[in-house]
Parts: sequence; structure tokens; C-alpha cells
Amino acid sequence: MDHLADPTANPEIENLTDRREALEDVSQNCSPNPTMGDIINHRFSRRSFMAGSLAVAAISTTVSPLAILTADDARANSLSSFDFKEIEAGVDETHHVAEGYDANILLRWGDKVFVDSPDFDPMNQTAASQEKLFGYNNDYIGFIPLDGNPDHGLLVVNHEYTNAEIMFPKFTSIVKETKNGKEVEKVQLGEYTKELVDIEMAAHGGTIVEIRKVDGKWQPVLDGKYNRRLTAKTEMQLSGPVAGHERVKTPSDPTGKQVFGTLNNCAGGVTAWGTFLMAEENFNGYFGGKIAEDHPEFAQLKRLSAPGGEYQWSKFYDRFDVSKEPTEANRFGWIIEVDVMDPNSVPKKRTAIGRFKHEGCESIVNKDGRVVLYSGDDQRFDYVYKFVTKATFNPDDRAANMDILDDGTLYVAKFDADGTVEWMPLIHGEGPLTEANGFASQADVLINTRLAADALGATKMDRPEDVQPNPKTGKVYVMLTNNTNRTADQLDAANPRAENAFGHIIEITETDGDYASTKSTWDILLKCGDPSVAEVGASFSTATTKNGWFGMPDNCAIDTDGRLWVSTDGNNQKATGRTDGIWAVDTEGDARGTSKLFFRVPVGAEMCGPSFNPTSDTFFVAVQHPGDAGLATYEAPATRWPDFKDDMPVRPAVLTITKQGGGKIG
Ligand code: FEO
Ligand code: CA
Ligand code: CA
Repeated sequence: MDHLADPTANPEIENLTDRREALEDVSQNCSPNPTMGDIINHRFSRRSFMAGSLAVAAISTTVSPLAILTADDARANSLSSFDFKEIEAGVDETHHVAEGYDANILLRWGDKVFVDSPDFDPMNQTAASQEKLFGYNNDYIGFIPLDGNPDHGLLVVNHEYTNAEIMFPKFTSIVKETKNGKEVEKVQLGEYTKELVDIEMAAHGGTIVEIRKVDGKWQPVLDGKYNRRLTAKTEMQLSGPVAGHERVKTPSDPTGKQVFGTLNNCAGGVTAWGTFLMAEENFNGYFGGKIAEDHPEFAQLKRLSAPGGEYQWSKFYDRFDVSKEPTEANRFGWIIEVDVMDPNSVPKKRTAIGRFKHEGCESIVNKDGRVVLYSGDDQRFDYVYKFVTKATFNPDDRAANMDILDDGTLYVAKFDADGTVEWMPLIHGEGPLTEANGFASQADVLINTRLAADALGATKMDRPEDVQPNPKTGKVYVMLTNNTNRTADQLDAANPRAENAFGHIIEITETDGDYASTKSTWDILLKCGDPSVAEVGASFSTATTKNGWFGMPDNCAIDTDGRLWVSTDGNNQKATGRTDGIWAVDTEGDARGTSKLFFRVPVGAEMCGPSFNPTSDTFFVAVQHPGDAGLATYEAPATRWPDFKDDMPVRPAVLTITKQGGGKIG
């Protein structure tokens, strides 16, 4: 199409998302926790580390890389437990789903969420209209059935961040800069007004919208009484051990309990009692200004890369300027629980679950009735956590569950070389978490979660993303997206590749199916990347075809049969000649480690949100930042998906995938 940026024109250029991610990817973990030197890798042969390119020989699921080269579709289909015909990997302007399935657009950025929502007018955006329209960059998706009906319920969606360069018309220019001695072009944003910042704030947060399947096709119910938009300005409450603490009081909130807004909600979760958990991830980027190095909040903010200064909000709102309100940032980085059945409820920031860059928060009811929530801290060399409630889930009384996330124990994972994972509690007064070490109370432990986990010697991971319990098997899957900063002398058993560009997936087996267990075992399910390139050291099964491998696992979902579906972030055309997508991965039996490509996104996009309805006959998927490749701007995105109209911007959107004629997905 005309006026499209050509993402392959100059592979040297980095667009704004690349630059934003590069900023985020700077590790702030300077703790001396062990990596290679201390945890000598006993599980995998030392030779495999030394050999580097032969590291593929090391894992339980591993096979000869040569065999992978000869794998074909027939073999993949005979071994895989998934019965769809996989699609071809590649890059183009639109999405693709396996033959025999329909992928329909359900909600796009700018779509109406209420009966009285205004029409989307991209050339004349306002904050007031955005507050009533579907937000930007849909990420996590959850489905909460109404009256137990798998075809009727509430769709809960996070809106993680905004891409000003492709959202706002006439807001960019292309400028030249010299990088590594070469002249390159880049997209430069224009001058922000307060109204533009307010539109961004309104496009963040989340959406709760009733949806229903009518004549086989899902549609939003615009007069649904639970429909709601949450934004970066919605009133919320701090609850749990940190609520009311001095370190979360601000000039506008002397109570330390009332917060406005939620930021950078990446993945999330839905609880057994039907509440929506929103995970605050890279909240640091919204804060600007400078904080003195001798300020008491300096060290913990630095450990979180705050202030990040990626947005311009601090120009118009003092609370986002750390030099003016240094404690406001302590009110972000939490898990938020939203009671979706009351559109006027004040969402609660559940501080007991800790403060870090939460990728998500998937939970499960343990066999003893306690609830266990898993969360990854998405930064290079950061940690994997779980939280176990003190109280038990009451299936007969929804109201009795509404505050159980305020009391419990937060644990951080130490992956040992002998194949055990030790879950270490973050409890004030225990071990190093004492006043002498800067933790005067449990509130200090929680506000400074990363520093507390450093002190306990947690295992530094390759960017933990979604952590997903499998209710069928007692296993838990940890997506580790990548870590190109890991050097050969920083390897450990759980992070066995240097310059890990493609990530891996760890499988935790909770002891005796007890998700609250403090001692579990672990294994590597998959080392990702192209298995035909020996140097990559990937470990897909021999039945995995050239379309079936993937890199950068990010989110995942478990279907009603307990099977794993993985979505990716970062398989862009520059690196791999393929876009992100969803791969169906076998975890059990002979097929373990076999992966098949089910769906792929348009150019520039990231795959998010995969989530099933309770009967697994609908798969909800989120296409985030489509068109965001090359020198993408509002006027010249890399695609005009999904409308393909010259007067319509490229738009992030949620799709429903169903099987033609009905039936379970895959
Ligand atoms: Fe928002 Fe960890 O990706
Ligand atoms: Ca993510
Ligand atoms: Ca998930």
C-alpha cells in the first residue's frame, strides 16, 4: 500500500519501540548474587557450556540439531497433540490463523465501550473521548463468565502503553543522526501539549466490557452494566502492609492510601472469585525529574530504573516529577485487584504481593484452599516470585475472598543446580531483612522488593515474563524472554546460555502438586531460537518444523486439556524473518518440546493476551503495537491493519479465534 514505511529498507534504524525497550533492558541488578562461579552447573555437562555452539546437547528434551533440519509437516502433525495444520512463519501486513479457524476483530483502539461512547475521530482525538473508547496497546486478556456461561462474560483487557508516533497525526518528523559512525534516520516526536498527555493517560489502564457470542460470532455488549474504563487517573486504593506508610504519603495524599491511576499494565490474571488482576510493569518510564543521590528513595528508585523519563507526563503533572514528589513512584509497581462486578468499586493495589516490574499475576487455588499467585519481574537479571495467601479461598462466599490478597507470604525463587527451586520468604526480621540492613518494617521489604530479594540471594534470570500454573499437572511454566547481556561467566543452571537472544522456558514441578511448596524442582522445557543454527543452541523436538520454532516467549495460556500455548515478543523481521505469534507447545510424553505455529501477527506487532474461554472453544488474542516497525509514524505506519483504510491509523486490537463449525481450539 502507499504511504507505508518499509521495515526492511534500513535494518540499522531503530524505531521508538526499539529504543524504549533498549532503555528498559538496562539491568539495575548490581547485587552480588551468585551466577556461574558459585553455582557450578552440575545438571548439564560442563562441556556443553564450554562448547557454546554445542550447548544444544544438554537438556532432557534435546535432540540432535541435524534431525531438526529434516523435520517436516507430516512428522510434526503425527507427533504433536495439536491437530491443526501449522501456518507458515513470515512477515506481512496482516494476521494469519491456521486453516479451518476464524480470527475476527472484536475490539480495536478507539472502538466504543459504552452506548454513549463518541465515534472514534483519530484526527481530532481528545482525552474525554478516549476515556470512553477502547484504549491503546491491548496486552493481557482475561475472560470472566457471567452466570457460568462460556459464551457470555466480561472481557478484561490491559492497555499497557501508548505509541505516540503512530497514535497522533502530524506529531512526528524524520531526523538524521550519527550512530556508530553511520548516518541513520529516526522518528522524532513533536512538542507535547497537556491535552496529548491527557489522551495518553486515558489510553492507558484497562477495559472491562461485556461480550457475548451471537450466531457464532462474539460481539461487545455496549449497554453492559459492568462496562468500565480504567485509566492513569482512576481513583485506586493502596491496601495491605504498605497502605498508610510514610513512604507512600504524598503532598496530595497525606493518608498514604489514595492513588490515582495505574501504569504500564502488562500481563495480569483473573482470580477464582472473578476479580481482575492488573500487573504494573515498566512504571518507571512515566516519571521524570532528578532525585538527589543522598535522598533516602534514591537507591530503590535506581534499582527500578526510575525515573525513566520516557514519557512527558512530568512536564504537566508534578506527581510524575521525582524531584517534586519523590514518593509518588512508590505507589506504582504493584498488582491491582479490580472487582469487575461493581463498576464503581475502587481498585485495590495489593501491596502484600510486592513492588517490582510485574509482568503478570496468574493464580491457582492450592489443594489446601490457599491461593498461590505467580509473578515475574521483567528485567534482565531479575527474579521470579510467588505469593501464598494466609486465608483460604471460599468458593461459596465471593465477598469472603475480596481481601485475602492483603495477607500472605511473598517468596522469591532460587534455582539451584541440583534441580531444586527454593522459594525464599520475604519477611521482615528474617535473615538479612532487618532494620540494620535498611528494612525497618514489612512495608520497607515490600516497597523495596528487589533490594530484599537481592539480599536473599535470589537467582538472576533472563527477563522473567509470564509465570503460568497448569492446574492439570501441578507444573508451572516460566517464560524467560531473553537476555543478551548475560556473559559466559554469568551462566547458571537455570540460565544456561550466554547472550541469550531467544530466551527459554523453565518448567517448575511443585512438590506433590502443592503450589504453596517452598521446595520444588525445575527443568528446562525449551531453549528457544532457530534449531537449524547450531550456535543458537535451541532445543525443540525433532518434530518441530522450520515454522514451529520461536524465540522470545512472553505470555502463555493453558487450555482445558492442560496444554501450553506460548505467545512471543520480539521475533521481528530484522532478526528472524518472522513476526510474533502463538505457538502450541507439547509438554508431555514423546511430543514434549514439539511446537507448532498457530497464529501470527502483522508486521511490527507483538503477540499478547492469549486466553481461553472456559470451554477452550474461543481463544482471545491481543495484537499489540502493529505497524510499529522501521520509521513508523501516524502518516506512514508499516501496515494499516486492521482496517486497511488510508484515513484510518493502524490500530492495536483484540481478536477472537474460533474453529469453523465449532469445537475446541487445537
Ligand atoms: Fe510488557 Fe514484560 O512485557
Ligand atoms: Ca509482555
Ligand atoms: Ca498467561
